[in-house]
Amino acid sequence: MERRRTVTIVDLPDLAATERLAGRIAALARPGEAVLLSGPLGAGKSAFARAFVRAWVDDPAAEVPSPTFTLVQPYDGPRGAVWHCDLYRLGDPEELQELGIDQGFAEAVMLVEWPDRLGPWLPPDRLELAIEICEQAEDARRAMLAAFGVWSARMDELADA
Ligand SMILES: Nc1ncnc2c1ncn2[C@@H]1O[C@H](COP(=O)(O)OP(=O)(O)O)[C@@H](O)[C@H]1O
Ligand SMILES: [Mg+2]
Repeated sequence: MERRRTVTIVDLPDLAATERLAGRIAALARPGEAVLLSGPLGAGKSAFARAFVRAWVDDPAAEVPSPTFTLVQPYDGPRGAVWHCDLYRLGDPEELQELGIDQGFAEAVMLVEWPDRLGPWLPPDRLELAIEICEQAEDARRAMLAAFGVWSARMDELADA
């Protein structure tokens, strides 16, 4: 049975706020866990992922191109690997097998854009971020965080920071 402990809403008034949230989440993440990013085009999923990877590899200038056609892009950091996955162009969840996704879920932090494409590959230890575009200001976003598995115990830490 799956237990969803808390849902927290975080206001992200500008890109810097999104980047700070990504850095805080990267500091808590461990290989074998996932961070799933949903939301419409332009919400900031890739911006979040870029900041997360830069924090993870401890290099604020690291190149983090969108893996639009390769679908997955692995990076190595001092605490292990992170895989940036953009599944927008995934045809069928079966293709995930060919991409070596089981190895990724076992050994890396999995950062996934368009996680609805994962189908049966939804991992138990995951933080789901749903990013919304707010109408009141151009750069305003709002993230709804839902924690599952090991992420549940970290929600207080995240909300406080
Ligand atoms: N608060 C914010 N959080 C994230 N991105 C923002 C924010 N405000 C403005 N942006 C801009 O919105 C765009 C988001 O694009 P991107 O990250 O590619 O979206 P997605 O991957 O969700 O389609 C970027 O140009 C980014 O600079
Ligand atoms: Mg994107």
